[in-house]
Amino acid sequence: MTKISTHATNITWHNNSVPPQARAELKQQTPAVLWFTGFSGSGKSTIANAVDHQLLMAGAHSYLLDGDNVRHGLNHDLGFSASDREENIRRIGEVANLFVDAGIIVLTAFISPFRADREKVRARMGHAAFIEVFVDTPLSVCEARDPKGLYKKARAGEIPDFTGIDSAYEPPLAPEIHLRTDQDDIQTCAQQVMNYLKSHNYINTALPEGAI
Ligand code: ADX
Repeated sequence: MTKISTHATNITWHNNSVPPQARAELKQQTPAVLWFTGFSGSGKSTIANAVDHQLLMAGAHSYLLDGDNVRHGLNHDLGFSASDREENIRRIGEVANLFVDAGIIVLTAFISPFRADREKVRARMGHAAFIEVFVDTPLSVCEARDPKGLYKKARAGEIPDFTGIDSAYEPPLAPEIHLRTDQDDIQTCAQQVMNYLKSHNYINTALPEGAI
């Protein structure tokens, strides 16, 4: 495949001589990204962490990219305007794509409020590898939880462009996995994700729980 960059010249795409399937076969899993989306305080990171742990116990190779953490490093130059959020999600999509190439099951926990941005990542990754996980927690519940005190600040006008307050959240229309954290607890939600991965053969069900 020849790819030509619009920004840098004299750049050529090199196909890696180790095919992605070989890495996936070595790990006995089908790499994919579990793309958690939902309001701040919805439980994305908590559930993604629980799934990450369960994958480890099942002998699968996974890695979690978390919004707050990635914004300390790779995306420390980005804020919360619509264009910065778009760039945030684009970069995460690219990083997730590299991890998938490396054979990993990636979990991402970002608000990722705009449908078009999430769909761009899906299109770039290929349908099979993109599993959208809607952490469906009503704004009122997230605001009541307010684990970081940010909703209070946003209501007081101290944080502009806060998702759900003065910046939009566009829920997925057809997520592969739909979690209701106001009805189910963390472990039940994590189990729902694990069941999806097993029933769709992303992970090797022959491995016993706690195999490592
Ligand atoms: S995203 O919209 O670009 O996907 P991301 O998931 O990376 O957002 O970061 C969200 C986290 O940043 C929130 O959990 C919260 O802790 C913090 N944050 C700070 N300012 C804002 C804001 N204006 N809107 C939403 N979250 C914010």
